[in-house]
This record gives sequence, C-alpha cells and structure tokens, in this order.
Amino acid sequence: TDNVHIVVAAGSGSRYGGNLPKQFCDLAGRPLLMTTLERLHSCTPEWKLIVVLSTDMTDEWLGMCKDNSFTLPHIIVNGGATRAHSVKNALSIIPQDSSGLISIHDAARPVITPSLISAIIDGVEGCDGALPACAVTDSIRLVGTDGNSSAVDRSKLRAVQTPQIFPADKLLKAYGQELLPVFTDDASVMEAAGYTNLRLVDGDPHNIKVTNPGDMAIAELYLSLI
Ligand code: CTP
Ligand code: MG
Repeated sequence: TDNVHIVVAAGSGSRYGGNLPKQFCDLAGRPLLMTTLERLHSCTPEWKLIVVLSTDMTDEWLGMCKDNSFTLPHIIVNGGATRAHSVKNALSIIPQDSSGLISIHDAARPVITPSLISAIIDGVEGCDGALPACAVTDSIRLVGTDGNSSAVDRSKLRAVQTPQIFPADKLLKAYGQELLPVFTDDASVMEAAGYTNLRLVDGDPHNIKVTNPGDMAIAELYLSLI
C-alpha cells in the first residue's frame, strides 16, 4: 500500500532533560524509539516507516541500531525547527498524488496498541482525519494576561494524542500553508486549512507522551501491563 507512518523524533526533549533526547533514552533495555517503531510496525506491517531525526542525532541513531541489532527498515528524514516543520520535511518525500493514508506519531509515545491504531484507521473513513482523544482528569482554569483565572467546564475538553491519521492528499495540501507556532499537532494544521471534518476516537490513557523525568518508568510499567 501507499500508507505510511511518520514518526517525529527530531525534538530535543528539553523538559525530560538528560544527556540524550528522551526518544534515545533507555526504555526496557534499549532506546525508546525502537519500541515505538516496532509496535507501530507490528500493528500495520505493510505500512512504510519514515523517521524524522535531527541531523546531529542521525549517526548516533544508526550506531544504536547496529549495537541493538535493530534492523526494521525505515527511511530517515531531517528534522525542522518545530514539530510541524519536522512533519513537513517528512511529507516532502511523499508523492503529491499519493492516494494512501498518512499517520503521524510522536516518537515519545511508545505505549501504542493495535486496538488504538485500528480504531483510528477505521475512524478516517469518510472524514478528513481521525485522532485519539481522552477526557481530561485534572480541573482546568483559563488564565488571563492580568493573572486572573477562571474555571473551565472540563467535560467539554479533550486531550489529544497520536497517532493522527489523514488522507495523504488532504494532509499534503494542508501542510502547504504557513506553519504557525499554535500548530502543536497535525489536526490543528488540517483545521486551519479548512479540513474540519475530523473524527475523535477514544484515546488510551496508557498512550502517554514521555515528557517529564519519571515518565519513562511509567511507560515501562504500562508496557508491562498491556
Ligand atoms: N519533535 C520533532 N521536531 C521538533 C520538535 C519535536 O520531531 N522540532 C518531536 C519530538 O521528538 C517528539 C514529538 O515531536 O517525539 C512531540 O514533541 P515533544 O514531546 O514536545 O518533544 P520535544 O520537543 O523533544 O520535548 P520538549 O518540548 O520538552 O523539548
Ligand atoms: Mg516540544
């Protein structure tokens, strides 16, 4: 098929800290990114894998693959200044007339399951895209520039995860627009381009994005549970 997973792994992991960006840190005995790629591949073995890496980590990653006998085929693309620019770089190697689906996944979410991926793929049918979303569990306040804040009805809010999956032709068009800092995910890029028919599917609370110190241990625990 023409279907492809883009795994964005070109971030610096500043909130996580450490010597290496979090996607290369140890998760259950090897660099986290290997688990993300393997789990995506096992769900959808016929989909191509594109991995976006910062140029200064590419040689290091290839060395890690060698050291860990990690041989899963993947295409490497150079990252950009923001997540959206990293996605755009990956899209630049996909043919304009592609008729498949494009999935975009955060490398930092290793606890991805076949059932979640299947639900998202099913959700794209007849839509501009599908994405996993969860109810928020914290109480939420909206903060103003004056320092005042007000409570928000959290029942109307959803926290969005990846993978987010879109028809290739629409996603390629959407990424032709100017990329703004408010585009923290791909659904927001699609929406700004007028592709507003996006289906939310039930996200998985275990599908965390390793972000802060301590999250790696949580991800490892979740992997052992699923
Ligand atoms: N990402 C990317 N290119 C960028 C920035 C982020 O490919 N220029 C990727 C990250 O590698 C990560 C995903 O986008 O897999 C989600 O981003 P985030 O969790 O924010 O990771 P970082 O930006 O690396 O972390 P931080 O914001 O703490 O620096
Ligand atoms: Mg970031």
